[in-house]
Amino acid sequence: MSCTLGHEFPIRNGVPDLVQSTRAAAAISDTFSVQWSRYEYGQDHTWSHSLDDRIDGFLAHLGIDSEWLRDKAILDAGCGNGELTNEVALRFRPRMFGTDISESVYRAHQQFGANVSFFRSNLSDSVLRPERFDAIYCGGVLHHTPDTRHALGQLAPAVKPAGRIYVWLYWKIPTLVYRAKTALRRFVAPLPPRAQQPIVSVFTAASWIRHGGRTGWRDHRLVQHDFWTPRYRWEHSPDEVIGWLHDLGFSDVSLQSQARDGFGLLAVR
Ligand SMILES: C[S@@+](CC[C@H](N)C(=O)[O-])C[C@H]1O[C@@H](n2cnc3c(N)ncnc32)[C@H](O)[C@@H]1O
Repeated sequence: MSCTLGHEFPIRNGVPDLVQSTRAAAAISDTFSVQWSRYEYGQDHTWSHSLDDRIDGFLAHLGIDSEWLRDKAILDAGCGNGELTNEVALRFRPRMFGTDISESVYRAHQQFGANVSFFRSNLSDSVLRPERFDAIYCGGVLHHTPDTRHALGQLAPAVKPAGRIYVWLYWKIPTLVYRAKTALRRFVAPLPPRAQQPIVSVFTAASWIRHGGRTGWRDHRLVQHDFWTPRYRWEHSPDEVIGWLHDLGFSDVSLQSQARDGFGLLAVR
């Protein structure tokens, strides 16, 4: 496959692969590829949410309704297992695209390739055509790149004039336990994926027991894996990111969602 600038890209397992192999890209891709390879479609819950709840969140975060989506070009940037991407495509029929740096896109393509165009890419590189998408949904992704501000700067130009982008990012949780876990994470994150697994298992067990063993073990493991293993996991404040979005030409920026561990911003061009 080649792009308009004449660069050539391989197609792997039916999916265009735009990731340039660098050590930084591999360090990010490796842990998330392990994370998503363990996901059981149809059984597990992403972030312990039902698909109905995730769809409600998707519409609310982007400040749109189902009618708005019809025939629009939508990108799920950092789509992970692609389950939400597919559900949006099935229910609302936009032209739906999903991209991720990890090998999750290959399984996502196998599962959902009839409804969604998946491609593998690194959001830190400028691979997207400017003004290509009516909306970009980017939930919990950019803080896992080496430089959140830089990655946002690569992604934002792909939003069409009058289009919108939603980004969800971590913020600092002001508790002693969180600070201690974050300090410990600094030693765990650089380890090879296999060496990280015992730590993930210990904290999965602790989380599972704390919740009375009522919800699935694998759902707890996904959350713990996502905390302990990524090479990068930056924390930001809404004001900081609102400033970046204004600098990138978005006039209308609002705090759209808040949770214990992070916040979501909606920006309209
Ligand atoms: C916490 S998961 C969120 C996945 C999905 N957005 C969701 O909410 O379920 C973060 C995702 O970002 C992807 N990611 C991290 N760095 C990336 C990069 N530089 N380019 C593309 N995807 C990236 C990871 O592979 C992972 O699937």
